[in-house]
Amino acid sequence: MVSEGHGFGKVILFGEHFVVYGLPGIASALGDKTTAIVEPAEKTEIVDNRPETPGYKEKKAGQMKESMEFIWKASGVDPEKTPVKITLAGNLIATSGTGASAASCAAIARALNRHFNLCFDDDKINQIAYEGEKGYHGTPSGIDNSCATFGGLIWFEKNLEGGPNKIEKIRAGKKIEIVEINSGMTADTKEVVADVKKKKGENPDEFEKIFSDYRDVVNEARKALEDGGTEKIGQLMDRNQELLRKIGVSNDKIEEIIRMAKENGAIGAKLTGTGRGGYVIALTPGRDLQEKVAKSMEGAGFMVLRTTIG
Ligand code: MEV
Repeated sequence: MVSEGHGFGKVILFGEHFVVYGLPGIASALGDKTTAIVEPAEKTEIVDNRPETPGYKEKKAGQMKESMEFIWKASGVDPEKTPVKITLAGNLIATSGTGASAASCAAIARALNRHFNLCFDDDKINQIAYEGEKGYHGTPSGIDNSCATFGGLIWFEKNLEGGPNKIEKIRAGKKIEIVEINSGMTADTKEVVADVKKKKGENPDEFEKIFSDYRDVVNEARKALEDGGTEKIGQLMDRNQELLRKIGVSNDKIEEIIRMAKENGAIGAKLTGTGRGGYVIALTPGRDLQEKVAKSMEGAGFMVLRTTIG
């Protein structure tokens, strides 16, 4: 018997890193997903057939092993007693910034659920995916696995007390085209999150101001998304990027991509996800502008995704 599960990729529109500290974030699931196929085997093994940014899977191999330990434990499946082969595939590119690790954790949790008839609901799948994320992130906020599990456009607030996180679906006023541009660089989320924590500890007053500015940005962004205020969303993305720069998660490559996207007409652009590599998202309302920005970035040798939010 073969059982399949899936997890969506995600794009964080507002709030990467800030969500770790209980501030709200807004993220949208991608149409692209990772699938996991589980089948009986002599010995437990994982075959990873996901498309990738070169070097990603190798860099994450150790973390994937750790992640699987968390997943076995959280799902109550013993890989020694009931060995399985897990094959990962799908059209989501395994790379920094697309929520690839969370998508794979949700896909595996769903496939194990089907295979062993565990009767888990989506909240339990999300919880297992969160446990799996710990192998990659150390202290994940939970925004990536929530997107991977539930899909859609979500408002997310981590409960710092340890209770359930706040996850609300947002109704967007309209669909807006975006271009996601792959920097080709793989960042280590655990490392970058730890660097931000260190910097925050060393500069408490500066961070308090940054957090307060960010709170204004995300509240205005929710309203702008609900109203379909495209120009406003673009401006808020730029403001969010400015704050991400201040906390030290941008780099030269990201800044170069943002500059190029804006020179070609994007009305807002920021890094998405961990930063220091991964993807940049550029807001490009209308198919024509989306195509213009996408083509120019491709012309400069970058890999891009064309998608919509809302
Ligand atoms: C990574 O996709 C997003 C971060 O905010 C980490 C997290 O939320 O766990 C950088």
